[in-house]
Amino acid sequence: LNYFSAKQTFKGKQVLITSGPTQEAIDPVRFISNHSSGKMGAALAEAFAAQGAEVHVVLGHGALKPIHSDIHIYPVKSASEMYEASQKLHQSMDICVFAAAVADYAPKEIAKEKIKKAGEGMTIELMRNVDIAASLGQEKKGHQIHVGFALETENEAFHAKEKLQKKNFDLIVLNSMKEAGAGFQLDTNKVTLFSKTGSELTSEVLPKAQIADLILQGIKNLPVEI
Ligand code: CTP
Ligand code: CA
Repeated sequence: LNYFSAKQTFKGKQVLITSGPTQEAIDPVRFISNHSSGKMGAALAEAFAAQGAEVHVVLGHGALKPIHSDIHIYPVKSASEMYEASQKLHQSMDICVFAAAVADYAPKEIAKEKIKKAGEGMTIELMRNVDIAASLGQEKKGHQIHVGFALETENEAFHAKEKLQKKNFDLIVLNSMKEAGAGFQLDTNKVTLFSKTGSELTSEVLPKAQIADLILQGIKNLPVEI
């Protein structure tokens, strides 16, 4: 890691990154979550900090913490906590990167006591969570840049471009699931960047630090003053 990068492209810029998984409580001892490690979010945070940005990471529980000492960390668990923390920061941000793996649904009710087993089957009723990126996308001002991620298993490019539009992103990063060396817990990744203006760029399988630099380059190349 190079904290003293000569390139200070993002000097003084306020950057919000959501990172890691969310945990949706079922009862006091159980939750619904996913395999997100937070490695990509941490790599992005380090990359922005190295280029002079003031970085704010809203971090899901158990996700990898960025180590650069100037990075502000806002620990959260559920999607609704992640939304609340992100929303508070949003107005004063220049760039927002939605790297978190947010649970789409959460248990409708959190049981106050540990649920005891009974019967041969059980059902938990789930409710749709707030879409953090889409919601903040509606509040996006002209000077702000929003970057999202997509993870698809079919019609990847089509779905990624659809999310770019729907969530008012300027740039979306499509994670390749089908590639060896790309994915959740790994230190490497392979991505395709799609910009609002129609440009497309596919990377090789690279360490997440290099993928992060590529994403920063993609942001720099957007037709927005930064
Ligand atoms: N996202 C978010 N809040 C949510 C769900 C997703 O901020 N409740 C963000 C993710 O951080 C990511 C982007 O939206 O940047 C796309 O996430 P993804 O799960 O691929 O998209 P969804 O809209 O949830 O669609 P799908 O049904 O394919 O899961
Ligand atoms: Ca989802």
